[in-house]
Amino acid sequence: MEQDIQKLKNWINHSDNVVFFGGAGVSTESGIPDFRSVDGLYNQKWKYPPETILSHSFFERNPEEYYRFHREKLVIDGVRPNPAHLRLAELERQGKIKAVITQNIDGLHQRAGSKNVLELHGSILRAYCSKCGKIWPAEFMNYSSGVPHCDCGGVIRPDIVLYEEPLDNHIMTEAIRYIENADVLIVGGTSLNVYPAAGLINYYHGNKLALVNLSTTPYDSFADLVIHKKIGEVFSQL
Ligand code: OAD
Repeated sequence: MEQDIQKLKNWINHSDNVVFFGGAGVSTESGIPDFRSVDGLYNQKWKYPPETILSHSFFERNPEEYYRFHREKLVIDGVRPNPAHLRLAELERQGKIKAVITQNIDGLHQRAGSKNVLELHGSILRAYCSKCGKIWPAEFMNYSSGVPHCDCGGVIRPDIVLYEEPLDNHIMTEAIRYIENADVLIVGGTSLNVYPAAGLINYYHGNKLALVNLSTTPYDSFADLVIHKKIGEVFSQL
């Protein structure tokens, strides 16, 4: 085993307070494209930039176009957790991982068996009416055609945090608490470009910060260990 992966393995072996903070790169090995890689969503041709489509004002103004993008790009059939999701769940069962904090909206950590998952950006597996708040089955939203409407006439929306919307205060506070108290912090599969999520890293006070990401990030120089490899391949060796 390579030295850097062995080092991370040792940190995990000697800790019962590991926290994981991840992003879209955690799910690429499950077949879900990330946002900012060359083959990611932001580099694909679309009528509007995805950052615009995924914004609150765009959703209000043009829900048809939003749902076209949502169903074509965010809802991907047949995806399964990969070794990174599965190993994280196993490490939680072993009492090592205290929390998985994710920017992903795909629900794959829970499907892998992780229990304490903090979804900073929500989930496309939940839906509610933007007018009356009634909860709707996500399948109805994800697989119907056109703009899904509630009995009250309101537009049904995914329970995700769109651009221009604030993150859930309670989830953010919990994420900060876990990171502040963590012994080992593993950050993986995220470009660390989107705030406030990326800023969470600044709450870590320990000396075992591991970054596992294919490309470089603005935080590489802050980390105690940087591994530029596929996260599924790394976690299958931990
Ligand atoms: P990005 O697409 O910005 O970054 C994904 C990172 O994962 C990139 O740096 C890739 O190099 C890396 N990566 C891809 N595959 C990998 C693999 N198999 N192993 C290791 N690393 C890999 O995605 P996020 O940082 O998650 O927000 O983006 C943050 C937010 O931007 C998303 O939550 C989303 C988006 O706009 C909302 O929709 C609100």
